[in-house]
Amino acid sequence: MQDKRRIIAGNWKMYKTSKEAVALVQGLEDKLDILTNNDNEIDGVEVIVCPPFTALKSIYTVLWQDKPPIKLGAQDVFWEDEGAYTGEVSPLMLKDLECEFVIIGHSERRTYFGETDETVNKKVKAALKHRITPIMCCGESLEQREVGETQAFIESQILGGTEGLTAGDMKRFIIAYEPIWAIGTGKTALPEDANDVIRHIRTVLASRFGDDVAKAVPILYGGSVKGGNIADFMAESEINGALVGGASLDVDSFADIIKNAR
Ligand code: 13P
Repeated sequence: MQDKRRIIAGNWKMYKTSKEAVALVQGLEDKLDILTNNDNEIDGVEVIVCPPFTALKSIYTVLWQDKPPIKLGAQDVFWEDEGAYTGEVSPLMLKDLECEFVIIGHSERRTYFGETDETVNKKVKAALKHRITPIMCCGESLEQREVGETQAFIESQILGGTEGLTAGDMKRFIIAYEPIWAIGTGKTALPEDANDVIRHIRTVLASRFGDDVAKAVPILYGGSVKGGNIADFMAESEINGALVGGASLDVDSFADIIKNAR
């Protein structure tokens, strides 16, 4: 499994002012004693940070001049390039700050802000149009898991979110499987259970885009990932890494996850 892509992405949610965010990235660089290689990876792991919109510019300005191998992502995007959409941020604006990634359809956005597979699909298409890699999230609730609906629900989210995309589009695509009951609760999915769901996601991708795409799309697990459990997830055959919330907010705990993901 040495050859699989390994990706650790930090979703900072609504935490960190821009000064705090810059300090966190700088601390991370120091702590990791960054090893740059030609693939722009940190010792075999691609590291992405997704701060709030308000911190993107300061991180870009202060740190991205030197192109360190930590990559920048946003937590959401609107689907139009510009217009009278008060409060929204467009893919053009993200591109302007060299954002290479954007989280789309996180369960918190679906739960609190009414996002649906249709809006997720529009946002995914807008990101791809501007060559920003979507990190498209999916995940079942505890109720769905308990009544055995996990696989059917995840399938509907994957098919809905990728409607109208081509196999070519999927070359620039990441999926995050985040069971809602594991987010911020300290309860992780069992690595083998997460692996089973992620294998199912690959089957769904194969049905629409073919086997090559299904094998190549990186799929992350998210939900209470820590330095002490990341290696168990990385050891599973289908899991390429993690989307980390709480434990990505602190230099030491995020650095531990990155080190243990190698
Ligand atoms: P936690 O790591 O805090 O459980 O959050 C996971 C998550 O929602 C990442 O997007």
